[in-house]
Amino acid sequence: MSTRTGHGEAFARAYDRLHADRDDIPTLVDFVRTRADPGVLLELGVGTGRLAIPLAKAGVRAYGVDASASMLARLRAKDPERLVTVFEGCMTEPPITAPFGCVLIACDTLAALPDRVAWAKCFGAVAQRLSADGRLIIEGALPDPTSWGRPTRIPRPEELDLLGRNVALRLTERYEDYAQRPFTQVSPKCVSVYQRVL
Ligand SMILES: C[S@@+](CC[C@H](N)C(=O)[O-])C[C@H]1O[C@@H](n2cnc3c(N)ncnc32)[C@H](O)[C@@H]1O
Repeated sequence: MSTRTGHGEAFARAYDRLHADRDDIPTLVDFVRTRADPGVLLELGVGTGRLAIPLAKAGVRAYGVDASASMLARLRAKDPERLVTVFEGCMTEPPITAPFGCVLIACDTLAALPDRVAWAKCFGAVAQRLSADGRLIIEGALPDPTSWGRPTRIPRPEELDLLGRNVALRLTERYEDYAQRPFTQVSPKCVSVYQRVL
């Protein structure tokens, strides 16, 4: 069974405004573009295309999957040239199978899935869709250390690494952000890159 919890119409309307103060898009585009080889990218939880549209404009062939028809409608309205090809569906069973040089799961989107079973299913789907030297890039906030012990849907870095190992993906890079600041014990978020174990 799929795990579809995409955002609704009200959230879709507000989404880009809520993220308007984030200035990391040019840095993200550089980071992802240099790791998407060949330049074919699948973004899971593509949303309004906040990231996929600039990536497509930078020359990456971008595909996106999202569970929310409202978010995809916003994307389409912002992308009249159809630079990004989108599919409505769940990131645990993306309705597209082509091999991708890069799969991107950005902005805490993995935490939209309810539990470890769904995370594992999503990692399995990614592994099946990566080209031989393709990369999975995951970006997200880390659990607040003051809330440790309480339930959270945010996977810790070591949980991500285990999910990767279970589908033969190994961690090759980890930073605090797309500017490649070093990841430390007090980093508020992390960007992790995984590649197939050959
Ligand atoms: C925080 S937004 C991120 C959107 C975009 N990646 C960005 O950075 O602007 C999370 C997105 O994931 C989508 N989403 C949530 N659960 C999903 C699922 N199970 N499968 C696919 N998309 C999902 C939501 O509809 C939303 O568009």
